[in-house]
Amino acid sequence: MRVGFIQNNPVFANIESNLSRVEALLTRERADLVVLPELFSTGYLFLNHKEALTLGEPIPEGSTTQSLIRAAKQHQTAIVAGIAERDGEKTYNSAVIIGSGGYLGKYRKIHLFDTEKNCFDPGDLPLNVFKIGSVRIGVMICFDWRFPETARTLALAGADLIAHPSNLVLPHCPQAMITRCLENRVFAITANRTGVEERVHGHPLHFIGQSQVVDPDGNVLYRASESDEEVRVVEIDINRARDKSINSKNDLFEDRRHDLYSL
Ligand code: ACM
Repeated sequence: MRVGFIQNNPVFANIESNLSRVEALLTRERADLVVLPELFSTGYLFLNHKEALTLGEPIPEGSTTQSLIRAAKQHQTAIVAGIAERDGEKTYNSAVIIGSGGYLGKYRKIHLFDTEKNCFDPGDLPLNVFKIGSVRIGVMICFDWRFPETARTLALAGADLIAHPSNLVLPHCPQAMITRCLENRVFAITANRTGVEERVHGHPLHFIGQSQVVDPDGNVLYRASESDEEVRVVEIDINRARDKSINSKNDLFEDRRHDLYSL
């Protein structure tokens, strides 16, 4: 299976050009699954809920999701992408999951980071696993990494691979995702962005790039630079995520002590 990410540098609120840039990057590599960053088409630093309502789109009816559905069909690839979602008067920091045959579903970020709480409603959908062919994809968004329950819930639900659209600003996540993969024996693709947004003068936000693919043994198969736009695809054997044994006597899931802790 060929899986990877696009690391972009969107311009805030410039949905059309951010989307067409990513559509152009999609043509560069043949893949079975491509993960795009969190809020890849709008940019990140919304000032308030009203602005998120204005730039948010209904999912799947909105034009960004519809464009991605067309691109997925054209390139015969699955796509997981972070999008600002509008649903009536509510807004969510969401991800769409699209197969080469069309729309599969969405995830709404459950752990909102910092000022996201002024702009988005907290996710209200269960942590689902989506099937792309025979492969089970779990989805979480950026700061969800800081709560190990998120990745664990997805792994216990059967995820082989965690698609992780992100807009990372703190330095810890690329290393922490190695642990998430080790403790769950899953693959993970973190798709981050680069660049700086300064919506309020004197308060720039720097995004750290370093999008990566990690395997179930915690090996970083590829890590992108901190600053450049990039498309990268690697070949993986998804079956490696289905063997949860650590050695002949230990199994990551069977050895869990349900009697002493829950989740
Ligand atoms: C983040 O959750 N975008 C830091």
